[in-house]
Amino acid sequence: MDEILLFQTSPHENGVTATIAELLAEHLAKAHIPHKLLSLTKRPIRPCCHCGFCQSHPSSCSLDSANDQAPEMLNALRRAPFLVVFAPIYFYALPANFKALIDRSQRFWQSHQGLETENALPTLVLLHAARSHGDHLFSGALLTLTYFLKMLSRTIEASYTFRGLESVADIPTHIPLANALPSLVSLLSRKYEETLS
Ligand SMILES: Cc1cc2nc3c(=O)[nH]c(=O)nc-3n(C[C@H](O)[C@H](O)[C@H](O)COP(=O)(O)O)c2cc1C
Repeated sequence: MDEILLFQTSPHENGVTATIAELLAEHLAKAHIPHKLLSLTKRPIRPCCHCGFCQSHPSSCSLDSANDQAPEMLNALRRAPFLVVFAPIYFYALPANFKALIDRSQRFWQSHQGLETENALPTLVLLHAARSHGDHLFSGALLTLTYFLKMLSRTIEASYTFRGLESVADIPTHIPLANALPSLVSLLSRKYEETLS
């Protein structure tokens, strides 16, 4: 049976992003929805250097090696029938290692993969940041994720954004997050029935 893949992308081990991902995993476990947590923390991802290798070698990258986990991560993200991406905002953007992974999907752009939205696989995006204000706090990250996910033949089914989450200590009293968790579980339960079972 297939599972929902929960992908946490913060470099902060046991930080806010990891804690939110684990919270959702606990709720899914209680609802008996099969899921798996995948963390990008500490995974070695070398940055794309625009060497041009993927232009002449479709879907390949000169940086793929035993010391680099980009292919493993990209394959997991492409395969997951339903994906949930968790990310914090760092300087109005996605964290550096996640951006490094995103740039490594250049191989799919070069070979024109993922450009068809027909049959695109569904993805849920959860972003959070410390600031309570800022009209464009999540805009850049959402735009980058839209095009990254397109390269993986995926589409954003829904996105949730949470403000005012600076540290793990803010989580227990964060009302919007507490209110969103049950609706996230029912959405994932519905999706699981539709797409995965
Ligand atoms: C390098 C860095 C840059 C950040 N930039 C922003 C920012 O631009 N806007 C904001 O609201 N919060 C910013 N934050 C705060 C984080 O988004 C917030 O603390 C988040 O909950 C951290 O999640 P984590 O513990 O998983 O890293 C930044 C934090 C760091 C470490």
